[in-house]
Amino acid sequence: MKLLLTGAAGQLGRALIDKMPPGVELLASSRHGGDGLVALDLADLKACQQIVVEHRPDWVLNAGAYTAVDKAEAEPGLAHAVNGSAPRAFAEAIQTHGGRLLQLSTDFVFNGEQGSPYRVDQSRDPLGVYGASKASGEEAVEELLGASGQGVVLRTSWVMGPVGKNFALTMLRLHREREELGVVADQVGCPSSTLNLAMACWTVITSSREGMELPPVLHWCDGGVASWYDVSVAVGELALDLGLLEHAATVNPISSADYPTPATRPGYSLLDCQASRQVLQLEAQHWRSALRDVLKSIPN
Ligand SMILES: NC(=O)c1ccc[n+]([C@@H]2O[C@H](COP(=O)([O-])OP(=O)(O)OC[C@H]3O[C@@H](n4cnc5c(N)ncnc54)[C@H](OP(=O)(O)O)[C@@H]3O)[C@@H](O)[C@H]2O)c1
Repeated sequence: MKLLLTGAAGQLGRALIDKMPPGVELLASSRHGGDGLVALDLADLKACQQIVVEHRPDWVLNAGAYTAVDKAEAEPGLAHAVNGSAPRAFAEAIQTHGGRLLQLSTDFVFNGEQGSPYRVDQSRDPLGVYGASKASGEEAVEELLGASGQGVVLRTSWVMGPVGKNFALTMLRLHREREELGVVADQVGCPSSTLNLAMACWTVITSSREGMELPPVLHWCDGGVASWYDVSVAVGELALDLGLLEHAATVNPISSADYPTPATRPGYSLLDCQASRQVLQLEAQHWRSALRDVLKSIPN
């Protein structure tokens, strides 16, 4: 099976390559290429179509994205091109030339106001540019590949792995550098380890190889629920236990109003993953235990 992976240099992309099952002929791409990766700029829509036409992958796993949530407020054109138009370009090429698309998406397509976990079939209502751009990518997959069943959107949240840029690694650094931290406690969701998320993505791909029909939208996060404050405290405790820190900072809960950011974030964006876990026949690992595995896997 031939698979085109985008965002191969990102945190999920790297976990996907590490966890790749046998029997996959991988064409891995990043914005600039190098290190065995093909160059593919997701803002270049012709190039996105062309690579599908040229290589005819069985799957495009689109893990590349414009993920800078705050910066996106100042660069809406680029965020929409990468997160909305690129999946549309892949979907158009797949519609004509065959194959399937696994499109990664986010809890930020929801407004976070309902106060209970979001099901896969609920309406999108993003608050900021990043969420809106990812929502437009979802819409393209649904519109062009929904009827044929060739497109799957996999939404996840608060992605954290042992490499790359993420909240857990930032908190680890801040615990080392500071005595005290103020971390937002009124945004609630769930962390997702790249290690578990990669396994979920590969399960989507391999289940389809086994002829299983997949729903158009899936949700995948680790188990449980947390605020950013909870995750920050857990990073300190787990890192101390693992010998990654000699001293953890005191973490104080603060409100979103005390930490203004260019992009408004949803207050409660927990994804209901029950149905998807059943479809994929995967059990959730609690986020704290998954976070421990992430911290343990940080390269020296
Ligand atoms: N991170 C999260 O908390 C989170 C939460 C929910 C959903 N997701 C989704 O999960 C997926 C994986 O995210 P991640 O956490 O692995 O993000 P990441 O570490 O930021 O990786 C994204 C990759 O996309 C690449 N990229 C950005 N613009 C590009 C362009 N124009 N052309 C080619 N590549 C480009 C980035 O390359 P550069 O480094 O060169 O920019 C980066 O390597 C994304 O679809 C994201 O929207 C992430």
